Amino acid sequence: MSAEYKVQGDIAVITLNNPPVNGLGYDTRKGITEALAQANADAKVKAVVLTGAGKAFSGGADIKEFGSPKALAEPNLLSVILAIEKSTKPVVAAVHSVAMGGGLELALGCHYRVGAPGCKVALPEVKLGLIPGAGGTQRLPRVLGVEAALNMIVSGEPVPAEMLAQLPGQKLFDKMAASAESLMDEAFALAREKAEVRPLPLVRELPCKHPKGDAYFQFARNMVGGQSRNFPAPLKCVDAVEAATKKKFDDGLAYEREIFINLMWTPECRALRHIFAAERAASKIPDVPEDTPKREIKSVAVIGAGTMGGGITMNFLNAGIPVKMLEMKQEALDRGIATIRKNYEAQVGKGKLKQDKYEQRMGLLSTTLSYDDIRDADLVIEAVFEEMGVKEKVFKELDRVMKPGAILASNTSTLDVNKIASFTKRPQDVVGLHFFSPANVMKLLEVVRGEKTAKDVLATVMAMAKTIKKTAVVSGVCDGFIGNRMIEQYSRQAGFLLEEGCTPEQVDKAVEKFGFAMGPFRMGDLAGNDIGWAIRKRRYVEKPGMKYSKTADLLCELGRYGQKTGAGWYDYKPGKRDAIPSQLVVDMIEKHRKDLGITPRKISDEEIVQRLVYALVNEAAHILEEGIASRASDIDMVYLTGYGFPIHRGGPMQYADTVGLFNVVQSMQRFARNPLDDAQFWQPAPLLARLVAEGKSFNQVG
Ligand SMILES: NC(=O)c1ccc[n+]([C@@H]2O[C@H](COP(=O)([O-])OP(=O)(O)OC[C@H]3O[C@@H](n4cnc5c(N)ncnc54)[C@H](O)[C@@H]3O)[C@@H](O)[C@H]2O)c1
Repeated sequence: MSAEYKVQGDIAVITLNNPPVNGLGYDTRKGITEALAQANADAKVKAVVLTGAGKAFSGGADIKEFGSPKALAEPNLLSVILAIEKSTKPVVAAVHSVAMGGGLELALGCHYRVGAPGCKVALPEVKLGLIPGAGGTQRLPRVLGVEAALNMIVSGEPVPAEMLAQLPGQKLFDKMAASAESLMDEAFALAREKAEVRPLPLVRELPCKHPKGDAYFQFARNMVGGQSRNFPAPLKCVDAVEAATKKKFDDGLAYEREIFINLMWTPECRALRHIFAAERAASKIPDVPEDTPKREIKSVAVIGAGTMGGGITMNFLNAGIPVKMLEMKQEALDRGIATIRKNYEAQVGKGKLKQDKYEQRMGLLSTTLSYDDIRDADLVIEAVFEEMGVKEKVFKELDRVMKPGAILASNTSTLDVNKIASFTKRPQDVVGLHFFSPANVMKLLEVVRGEKTAKDVLATVMAMAKTIKKTAVVSGVCDGFIGNRMIEQYSRQAGFLLEEGCTPEQVDKAVEKFGFAMGPFRMGDLAGNDIGWAIRKRRYVEKPGMKYSKTADLLCELGRYGQKTGAGWYDYKPGKRDAIPSQLVVDMIEKHRKDLGITPRKISDEEIVQRLVYALVNEAAHILEEGIASRASDIDMVYLTGYGFPIHRGGPMQYADTVGLFNVVQSMQRFARNPLDDAQFWQPAPLLARLVAEGKSFNQVG
């Protein structure tokens, strides 16, 4: 039973007990109603106190039940709340730690509420693309006032109970306890004090109005609408709260329910729920149990103080972990430190970082030119030039000096981590940690698992990723790992689109309208077009049969590497990042088409987006089948956190599932018939073809 029942004198205590956060799963809900019935039937009991065991009053819906019929089975949360309202004896909620979502709605159904200091409350449903579905939008405005309640519901953010208890006229908390320890005693005292008071107060009977009425809701819609592009739920929160001010309580409740159910099936809500589950899944490695022992990481060394080394270092300093940076020359160290200082100073300037914190962080940083100085580091991350010969030298040195058990990581973006591991006599301690640029900002961390990487090394770096606030996704060893291997196909398609008739601007606009933070050409200009050029030159040798558009090479031959050279696919004014369409580039593309004898055609935005996104999807299907990624949702996390894929679409795999894999493959077959495209690439990956034949989706793999 996930709700315990006890009688202490004349008070019954119902304690939710469903670790870790007393989620309101089926057993808990049933437990509450049964305990309540017992209390009502017991003549000795005068009042009831409802609370939660452990570290929460209640975190809300039980995520283990998400999507299962149990989530909606009777008694559902609405019925539980109704049973509390109908109790003939007063029910006092003793709220501590957190009351989130359904947990707060449950407390709002009680007759009285006592809050513990330090407790936080929230209605976070909007973060999953929903609105509260068990009366939250109808009851919260009645106890907090319309504006405070709407702010909480639209933001979904937790708010300290003490802050809310100070709002004038608030009725959320009848009392704030003096301390967390005295909460139960004070709840008991209130229960005894109110034992005989009738009628029992119900939140549903409180008035609900905003003095400015329609004008306020119009203002709220403008504000919320502007901030919630692509997501329907926030505006629906406004509708539901407005209904609380206009409809009878039960009608408002029915209206809230209707919105809740309609939102549940929108692609945006499905995308957000998918991401919620994907984030949790990504931290688990199928054959590395959660209780795998971890190594301690108390100090870090970073080899190379360039673009990546500096950013990587900042992550650890921010987390309070000391870092020693190693370089070949003092000047390189000085440059690296100056860049770190500049980054922190910019944060201090913007008021995002306090001066003393900045100094504290810099105090954790030291430098050296000698490997002997880093031998005691628990983790060393190499971020030197992307050349196997250089990596070999560094890893041989690391193998020589590092203490036994130290984790040796490489930030390589393209090189074979197994080969790098083979330079040492301890390949089990070697792992890829592929950070993204700027490494102190980007959330994504691809953890590259070598053939011999030990399980405790993986468990350790996954935990470390959480400490430095990264989203870690495990990738097997292959060229480009998950993210860059897919982006290569996307970039190839972008190139073909130019040859067939698009301008860079048209492609970027279509992709940005779809929701990407940046189209492929603006992205190229930001990252540096020379990086892709270097990779293509390698490909021309390694894979001579592979088809590429030469437009990007022509651009690079003009020295147009992007923002860093003041010109790329676009023109840039000195010191500015605004992309200005370039006539020179348009002429260059046209001339190239003429040279190839191609008559340009008009290409729709739909085709542009499909070709770019399905190129990601088809390559991802190969990656999944080869076991480079463990699950489709890991690939989505890579794209959402590292490549600006639109959140409301849930990632490329979730998007393909939403479109329907059958439809995706139909489009691929059409693209394969285009003589200017790459027919071979558009052959659906075997996994994709199999899923279509079985009528399945990526979500059902693994
Ligand atoms: N720049 C990116 O966007 C990016 C993203 C992910 C991964 N990476 C990878 O990170 C690594 C570093 O890239 P970067 O962009 O920071 O390069 P960078 O040229 O900015 O920095 C490399 C630094 O390494 C130093 N170095 C070179 N050889 C060394 C040695 N033997 N010992 C000590 N220091 C040495 C250099 O002096 C230089 O400061 C590469 O493997 C690259 O593929 C880069």
